[in-house]
Amino acid sequence: MKLADIRLNYSKHTLEEAASGSNPAELFRLWLKDAFDANVSEPSAMVLSTVSERNRPSSRVVLLKGFDGGKFLFYSNYNSRKGKEIESNQFVSLLFFWPELERQVRVEGVVCRESAESSDNYFNSRPLESRIGAIISPQSEVVEGREILEKRFGEILAQKEAAQLNRPDYWGGYVVDPEVFEFWQGRPGRLHDRIRFRKDQEAWVRERLAP
Ligand SMILES: Cc1cc2nc3c(=O)[nH]c(=O)nc-3n(C[C@H](O)[C@H](O)[C@H](O)COP(=O)(O)O)c2cc1C
Repeated sequence: MKLADIRLNYSKHTLEEAASGSNPAELFRLWLKDAFDANVSEPSAMVLSTVSERNRPSSRVVLLKGFDGGKFLFYSNYNSRKGKEIESNQFVSLLFFWPELERQVRVEGVVCRESAESSDNYFNSRPLESRIGAIISPQSEVVEGREILEKRFGEILAQKEAAQLNRPDYWGGYVVDPEVFEFWQGRPGRLHDRIRFRKDQEAWVRERLAP
């Protein structure tokens, strides 16, 4: 395998101004639906990037759990590395890559916590094992080994009848309010389509970017 020689020619779709419309949330909805309809693997997976207090960026995959009112919802541990970084810097980016459709969507925005009530509702809807996992895992902390996690998991599972298994206050939803969207569609000859929407006051400004 010679990495330098690996390149694909993209030709499946196009993204013209007329088809982009004036509302990026609507276009995102269409593209997300296309990803589900095309049976891509993990269509709702997105790369979340945060920046630390010391200006060090870091990225990881999380799952999109809602897209209402044009805002992106995901769930995580508030004490995790990402949680701490969000605490000190609310600016984040999201990235969706759907290779089967030759598409990428970049989002930049401001993140805040979802209401406790909505997080409770979502937490209570999760399967028992996912709830236990969220409760027992000190996400992003160094642990001695798997055994300690499995032991805690087993203990809670064993007493689940007695245990309430309420959402712990260190776990819940985050909502990203976007300021910029960029829709990227692969095209032949590296002349890819890039349509950016940026928020200016309350209006979306649509622009084409060079590939
Ligand atoms: C496909 C996939 C989906 C994931 N979904 C989530 C998620 O929804 N929430 C989450 O906290 N971590 C999720 N993870 C794990 C994160 O990538 C990451 O390991 C974890 O959140 C710890 O990140 P941090 O230490 O930077 O805070 C997912 C990982 C993968 C590969």
